[in-house]
Amino acid sequence: MFKKMPFVAFLFFCIHILPATAQKKSNNNIDLAPTPPMGWMTWNYFGTDINENIIHEIADAMVASGMVKAGFNHIMIDDGWQGGRDKINNIIPDPQKFPSGIKALADYVHSKGIQLGIYSDAAQLTCAGYTASLGFEEQDAKTFASWGIDYLKYDYCGAPGDSVTAKIRYKKMSDALRNSGRQIVFSICEWGGRQPWFWAANAGGQLWRTTSDVRDSWHSVMYNLDINATLESHAGPGHWNDPDMLIVGLRGSKGPAGDNGCNDIEYQSNMSLWCIMASPLIATNDVRNMNAETKRILMNDEAIAIDQDALGKQGELKINTKTWNVFVKPLENGDYAIAILNRSDETQNADISFTQLGLDGKYEIRDLWLHESVGNSKNYKGLLQIHETKLLRLKKLSN
Ligand code: GLA
Repeated sequence: MFKKMPFVAFLFFCIHILPATAQKKSNNNIDLAPTPPMGWMTWNYFGTDINENIIHEIADAMVASGMVKAGFNHIMIDDGWQGGRDKINNIIPDPQKFPSGIKALADYVHSKGIQLGIYSDAAQLTCAGYTASLGFEEQDAKTFASWGIDYLKYDYCGAPGDSVTAKIRYKKMSDALRNSGRQIVFSICEWGGRQPWFWAANAGGQLWRTTSDVRDSWHSVMYNLDINATLESHAGPGHWNDPDMLIVGLRGSKGPAGDNGCNDIEYQSNMSLWCIMASPLIATNDVRNMNAETKRILMNDEAIAIDQDALGKQGELKINTKTWNVFVKPLENGDYAIAILNRSDETQNADISFTQLGLDGKYEIRDLWLHESVGNSKNYKGLLQIHETKLLRLKKLSN
């Protein structure tokens, strides 16, 4: 191609076309979140009671516990970090909570192999009443970039209810992030009310909340599941449905998500169901004090591999009865992941034929919580405890 190109044309290509192509690619949604983002967020456990020491401790604990190695590679500072604006209207952190500033915190977190996320809102004040970004989008995006921020959760409290305004306000901030000189993942948080799955990717989001705030209860997990479960056609690499944070390991602790808590079978279901739906995996428990069960659930590498599979398909809800929810998620190597949830309040015997799920033939069935093969068959039979989810990986053997 280049041999036949006149020198001037070649020069033009190098100066104008090449950088433009590179820019387009590096700004594109897929590069920012090729698989669902993973990490840990301050909100559900700490609320606004946060400070830089807590973030340091969390970062250290995430490395020491193996969370970072398992893929939880972000820390997101949610609401409550802000300290208003300075004389030239730059947003500043609360000097009592973050005396060393956010840049120093980002440097620390980055040195641990973790990315740093922050939070703002498309109105004058955030949900918890702190300074937000409306009218300061360009300036705040540049400030976040200068601090080394990698991810922005952008909330919608205090903003008008219509979708037209929401699209405009989210696009404004995503454009500002693109112009900030740094690659920053944009997480849209308007709680699903304006059906963001239809427009949030075009407004520049890599993920969007589909639901109201999750709480630490089984009822809440089911509530958010039911909304998110039918939205699979809207998810894919660079654009993800977000049914809110994981509640695994909160165990009834106080905090904004505080509720009765779940048992470990239910927390394991929370993890399984979020993985089959290719949801962002954002833990919110106190990672400094995790018991063995919480670690086992959050750091199941085989479950995480389903969530993070490069094909980027959200599992499809194939069976939906009062007792059973069964999801099927095609995987990059040709395998399928299956999640079978017993929603009922009794132990149940499952007998699910794969043909019923649109999967013909015989499969090797691997149970991703037992970490072992449980047979070669055309169906799955097994006992499920109340609210248990079986997470299986099927490898085709024959037709
Ligand atoms: C909203 C969001 C939550 C959290 C709080 C912070 O409720 O949905 O996830 O960010 O605001 O105030």
